[in-house]
Amino acid sequence: MPIADSDAPTTWSKWIGTKDLTLVRGVGQAVHGGLHELPAALTACGATRVLAVVDEGAVRAAGVAREFEDVLDRYPHELFTQFGPNPTVQHAAAATAAAKHVRADCVVAVGGGSCLDVAKLAAVGVRQSGGLDLAAIPPSSDGCDGAPLIAAPTTSGSGSEATHFAVAYANAKKKSFAHPTLRPRHVLLDRRFALAMPPGLAAAAGLDALAQSLESRWAVGADERSIEYSAAAAGLIAGSLVESVTAGTESARLRMMIGAFLAGQAINRSKTTAAHAMSYQLTSRYKIPHGHAVALLLGWVGAANAVASAGDCNHPGGDEHVRRSVRAAGAWLGVAPAGLPGRVASLLEQLGLATNLRDAGVNPDDLASLAAGVDPTRLGNNPRRFTSDQLHAIYRQAWDGNVRDRTAAVDD
Ligand SMILES: NC(=O)c1ccc[n+]([C@@H]2O[C@H](COP(=O)([O-])OP(=O)(O)OC[C@H]3O[C@@H](n4cnc5c(N)ncnc54)[C@H](O)[C@@H]3O)[C@@H](O)[C@H]2O)c1
Repeated sequence: MPIADSDAPTTWSKWIGTKDLTLVRGVGQAVHGGLHELPAALTACGATRVLAVVDEGAVRAAGVAREFEDVLDRYPHELFTQFGPNPTVQHAAAATAAAKHVRADCVVAVGGGSCLDVAKLAAVGVRQSGGLDLAAIPPSSDGCDGAPLIAAPTTSGSGSEATHFAVAYANAKKKSFAHPTLRPRHVLLDRRFALAMPPGLAAAAGLDALAQSLESRWAVGADERSIEYSAAAAGLIAGSLVESVTAGTESARLRMMIGAFLAGQAINRSKTTAAHAMSYQLTSRYKIPHGHAVALLLGWVGAANAVASAGDCNHPGGDEHVRRSVRAAGAWLGVAPAGLPGRVASLLEQLGLATNLRDAGVNPDDLASLAAGVDPTRLGNNPRRFTSDQLHAIYRQAWDGNVRDRTAAVDD
């Protein structure tokens, strides 16, 4: 589908290459250059009554509240703002009730990944007969018909605007839902949000996008198309992440915005791997922001995957294929697989973040229970099978953070 904002291609080509732009144009969603395209998106969705799930802090920070309200006021609408980072199924149920109250036939989400997840689930819930029934979201493409979704991501990181997944916590456990109806039809990439993010948020969100692009490269679910997306995303992110946080330049922030969108496109096809699966408890138990939590494991998981053998390979392409994939992902960061832990630690250091689990506040006595608590189904997309002892060893390495002997350069 074309980029609807006629300004966007010309503007974006200042920051991204022609190849990246071609990829953006082919994602199968209508991609708009900003919130000013919201009226057109609402019309295209046939909206008559709207649920708006809004991250008020983000809208205020970007100075777009009046503009957004002016558009919403043209429709009978309900505003839902009662959620926070890492939302629960109760938040999604409350958003569903708000959608039903206004009888919404379209859902607009303006916020980060947390907001988008709540909106995605409410878009399904509003079409269900009782309250939100998450068990009725089948993993297939049949039997589920959510209201059309319009998403304006306010962080450059989660990539949720590109995916057909939604996640929410139930009893401190992360639950994932996957269905084509959860993928927004329209995406509004508004630079004002990218520019408004405080540095800490830009860092955590950007690290999530970086991890997505690398994990997508070595995921069991990777395909030719997802690899194109992940390569483009990694190219944009690796060259801009530090600058986007420490200097906050417009060019770096906008490359991150588009890089995160492309990383989202990559995982929409491939899904994430062990670094994500192992990170969730770091967020639920220690409140480490999602992207930082994933990054604390990313390099160690990459290095471990790089030594997959025929005996523990989980990829139908075989262990040599896995080693090649990890080498390719490492090369995007300029290192051989053994150098991944050191390279990611150095990025974390430059971003002013803890580089290991010890400094991030994880109790070493908890490492065994962390290993035991990783959801095994989430590990199924990792190209190497890990035993519980190996998971424990990875947590231990990430806790120690000893990267002194891990500075290997790219081996070509
Ligand atoms: N469904 C998916 O495909 C998918 C993919 C990746 C991550 N996620 C989920 O997304 C969540 C993380 O999302 P996130 O990193 O975007 O952060 P977030 O949505 O949790 O927001 C973090 C904080 O940043 C604030 N904020 C957001 N945008 C802002 C802006 N432009 N300026 C100032 N403040 C702003 C929010 O108010 C909030 O307090 C996690 O719960 C994760 O599980 C979902």
